[in-house]
Amino acid sequence: MDGQDIDWKALEAAAVAAMKNAYAPYSKFPVGAAALTGDGRIVSGCNVENASYGLTLCAECSLVGNLQMTGGGLLRAFYCVDAHGNILMPCGRCRQLLYEFRAPELQIMTTQGIKTMDQVLPDAFGPHHLEEPR
Ligand code: THU
Repeated sequence: MDGQDIDWKALEAAAVAAMKNAYAPYSKFPVGAAALTGDGRIVSGCNVENASYGLTLCAECSLVGNLQMTGGGLLRAFYCVDAHGNILMPCGRCRQLLYEFRAPELQIMTTQGIKTMDQVLPDAFGPHHLEEPR
């Protein structure tokens, strides 16, 4: 998998469009995220901040909500942008969100090019840790 089968331009456009819906009056740092699902849908999300700052929802939070609300499934490719449309790395918490819904070969667009989930979140905690026996 080298990412050539993914329409990265479409994902970038969806991430930019999502970013324009951001509610970021406190940080003034709008974020948009978009992902391709296993069945070919594009799901997206924006950050939604809160006056109680710690309750802020990252763009990836609404993206995984959108994934579930539109049929579920797994993520094959992911793209996140800032207000300028520049590629943004998902924060640590959001790497964990993406991990939960990753397709086996999830590709993540990063500032260093396309990376795998294992590269951006090595030795991840995941559903397998909850299985018996321990
Ligand atoms: N943010 C995201 O939406 N996703 C990330 O992965 C990084 C951070 C948002 C949260 C907050 O609204 C703003 O960026 C500044 O931290």
